[in-house]
Amino acid sequence: MTVNSIGVVGAGQMGNGIAHVMALAGYDVVLNDISKDALDRATDLIGRNMDRQVSREKITQDERDQAMGRIVTTQDLPHVAGTDLIIEAATEQETIKQKIFDSLLPHLAEHTILTSNTSSISITRLASRTDRPEKFMGFHFMNPVPVMQLVELIRGIATDKQTYETCLGVVEKLGKTAASAEDFPAFIVNRILMPMINEAVYTLYEGVGNVNSIDQSMKLGANHPMGPLELADFIGLDTCLAIMNVLHDGLADTKYRPCPLLTKYVEAGWLGRKTQRGFYDYR
Ligand code: CAA
Repeated sequence: MTVNSIGVVGAGQMGNGIAHVMALAGYDVVLNDISKDALDRATDLIGRNMDRQVSREKITQDERDQAMGRIVTTQDLPHVAGTDLIIEAATEQETIKQKIFDSLLPHLAEHTILTSNTSSISITRLASRTDRPEKFMGFHFMNPVPVMQLVELIRGIATDKQTYETCLGVVEKLGKTAASAEDFPAFIVNRILMPMINEAVYTLYEGVGNVNSIDQSMKLGANHPMGPLELADFIGLDTCLAIMNVLHDGLADTKYRPCPLLTKYVEAGWLGRKTQRGFYDYR
């Protein structure tokens, strides 16, 4: 199947990055969010991130302008429904994702492939509530989307070969690398990454180190580009907690229990960079 147009639902940090790379790869993009402010912020951010790519000679001014011209924004969810491939990139809460798919279903073109950028929720379960489990799969980008090379492709139990191959073709056109993951809680990247971040929060909680010594240890001692607490702030502490809960519930093993300090920060609304406060203070 040929994909020409991409619908992106959710204009937050993942959604705007997805719209950015899709438009640069030549796809027509319809970017949707319920909030006009979020759409305006996303368009502005995509423009600034592309400007930075122009200034570093990664893309030309002409490529930038053409890509920006391929992005249409809308608050009207059914507007997304006629695209060839939809990527849902809303908040990491199953009820919200479910509501989005329920609202899209009556308007979808027959050929449209539905995907979710979920970082941990069961693809098989999300797909089972739609009219097209064979045309449904996980399409999981890493943050920041324009920089990170990997996309995890997750097949649900019913996903067919054509859907997988179509999505694989899109990843290749983006110039990224696909990792094929089976549909188990948190897939590959977050199954490994989140317990490490959670352990870093336990290391802080138990007083083994402070924020700086923990992050510096992993940066200088393990060559990670960001320390685990800085990375948690970057991803969003609510997202980290949601993923730990999926691992804990889905695998029923106490080794995945979220650190109480992580829960407390989320309860305080200290969600990391996006709220200007997390393990670090960005105010
Ligand atoms: N759009 C476009 N380009 C961007 C960008 C963006 N949003 N953010 C950064 N860049 C580019 C910069 O322009 C720069 O380009 P050049 O190499 O051409 O100079 C390059 O990325 C590096 O950026 P900076 O120099 O500003 O900063 P840095 O060297 O400190 O790198 C980083 C920043 C790439 C974010 C790096 O710190 C890093 O790789 N951190 C780890 C990120 C990570 O682990 N991501 C995965 C999170 S897990 C996930 O996403 C899954 C999930 O479900 C939770």
